[in-house]
Amino acid sequence: MKTTTKNATTKSTATRTASKKATASAAAKKATAKTTTPKSMVKAKSSAADGLRELFEDGLKDLYWAEKALTKALPKMAKNATTPELVKAIESHLKETEEHIDRLEQVFKSIGKKAVAKKCDAMDGLIKEGESIMEETEIGVVRDAGIIAASQKVEHYEIASYGTLYAFATTLGEKEAADLLATTLQEEKDCDVKLTEIALASINVDAADEE
Ligand SMILES: [Fe+2]
Ligand SMILES: [Fe+2]
Repeated sequence: MKTTTKNATTKSTATRTASKKATASAAAKKATAKTTTPKSMVKAKSSAADGLRELFEDGLKDLYWAEKALTKALPKMAKNATTPELVKAIESHLKETEEHIDRLEQVFKSIGKKAVAKKCDAMDGLIKEGESIMEETEIGVVRDAGIIAASQKVEHYEIASYGTLYAFATTLGEKEAADLLATTLQEEKDCDVKLTEIALASINVDAADEE
């Protein structure tokens, strides 16, 4: 009996020692990570986000810039499209995009922050790619097919961004923001489906016949 108690005491002391060692090792690792950054690791800027809330706010700023840029890019795409259904779909999504901007402003308001836009390099690149596609195609169904391709890349970027921000808002307990983001997310998905339908209905087949 005495031996069992002694063994239990020894075990308990050993567990505490192991636990202390693990804590010390974790602290040492953290300290090392702060002071030395391996070459393969991207060094964080002094303004880097240090929590999910900050990452969420950065994402909102990025998307606010992206939506604003789209209100300038979409009219050009509509003017370059010739298939009536495509022109109508782009014009109708332009109206939705203006609502997306208003909705993002409501999201900022709901979390007590001022709406600020921060340049989104990805959207900037996607819009530039859309312009290149228009330059590289003759006006007509081939250009229309190119406009759909470029637009769907934009929609997929928006779907990924709104999906992520919705998940962040949910985790952070920002219910109003999450609901607003979910509404826009659905509109982006609907637009993507619509563009696929238009492409498959005739544009892609007609474009394939062009030489
Ligand atoms: Fe949008
Ligand atoms: Fe969109």
